[in-house]
Amino acid sequence: MANKDPIRVGILFSESGATSTIGLSQLQGALLAVDEINDTGGIDGRELQPVHYDPESNPARYADLTERLIHRDGVNVIFGCYMSSSRKAVIPIIEKWNKLLFYPTLYEGFEYSANVIYTGAAPNQNSVQLAEFITSNFGARVYLIGSDYIYPYESNRIMGELVLQRQGSEKLAECYVPLDATERDFADVMLDIRNKRPDFIFSTVVGDSTAALYRAYADAGFDPKTMPIASLTTSEAEISQMDRGLAAGHYTSAPYFQSIDSDANRHCLANLRRRFGDSCVPNLCWEASYFQMHIFANAMRHAGNDDILTLMPYILGSEFDAPQGRVKIDPTNHHTCLYPRIGRVNSDGQFTIVRQARRSVYPDPYLVTHSLGDWAARLDTLDKLEC
Ligand code: ACM
Repeated sequence: MANKDPIRVGILFSESGATSTIGLSQLQGALLAVDEINDTGGIDGRELQPVHYDPESNPARYADLTERLIHRDGVNVIFGCYMSSSRKAVIPIIEKWNKLLFYPTLYEGFEYSANVIYTGAAPNQNSVQLAEFITSNFGARVYLIGSDYIYPYESNRIMGELVLQRQGSEKLAECYVPLDATERDFADVMLDIRNKRPDFIFSTVVGDSTAALYRAYADAGFDPKTMPIASLTTSEAEISQMDRGLAAGHYTSAPYFQSIDSDANRHCLANLRRRFGDSCVPNLCWEASYFQMHIFANAMRHAGNDDILTLMPYILGSEFDAPQGRVKIDPTNHHTCLYPRIGRVNSDGQFTIVRQARRSVYPDPYLVTHSLGDWAARLDTLDKLEC
């Protein structure tokens, strides 16, 4: 008789702590995809059964819960993590027991694990485009500010190097605030920005403290038309925690924005509203969390079981019609072909897309093609809509 046992999958997204808003959206993206898969017969009649814990935005909790999912819950595949510090805590355990992690978040790159599938943007799919766009439109004197952990250090290093390829560039400062920073933590930074007068601020601040940065900027009386904040981590989720209009005029580079005008996106958002009402704030990490579950399910249909050795050949090279466009897992580096976009926040807290790639851009997590000049050779793939 055919096996009708449910297939357990582990889910580790934070519903509490510093990155709870974006973590909750990632959880909802994963659960939406699970519902869609189960509503259409599961995996050959077998239901996906999510086992979810809240790691509280705490890397040590991520590590403990990974052990628990593997040893107590008998899970082979885990979907999870936002902060790179949590991914770094999970990977050694995943590798030790030869399990599989799907990671749906933009990150700093310069990493490969045979046990991880990376579905968020690598730096050549967001930082390079943001550097090119912002320095062309505003200038190349940058002020770097981030949260105090590994992703901001590395992402700021990459942005600093990209910007320094421009004429007249200058790295004016690089500073860090605690993960739970409040507006007071940004007071001295704003004074320093007033003195140094950068062309733009690059923010690698993450999570709930993002709202405090934009509030401090507005209270300082700065103008995004002449000195915008450019970011990879300020999404619709962080903007939803701000007063209306606070982030208007600032820029984010991401493969997905809620405002993408396509049938696939509209259909997915309608399903989301039916399942979760208006409580979910779709964003780049929500979308990656959603489509990676479908990539897993499609591979499972071919593989028949979720052991990494059996499953991986069906994941690598696989494609899916995601809300951002058709994505593909690169078989050589386990990252994903994605569509770089630049969005400017409008007064509704949504993004007006001012530039987008016409074709997906392959992932190059080690930035082998590293310079803005290299990117310019590929600018023909970018569709300039508005600047
Ligand atoms: C991140 O920590 N990868 C946003």
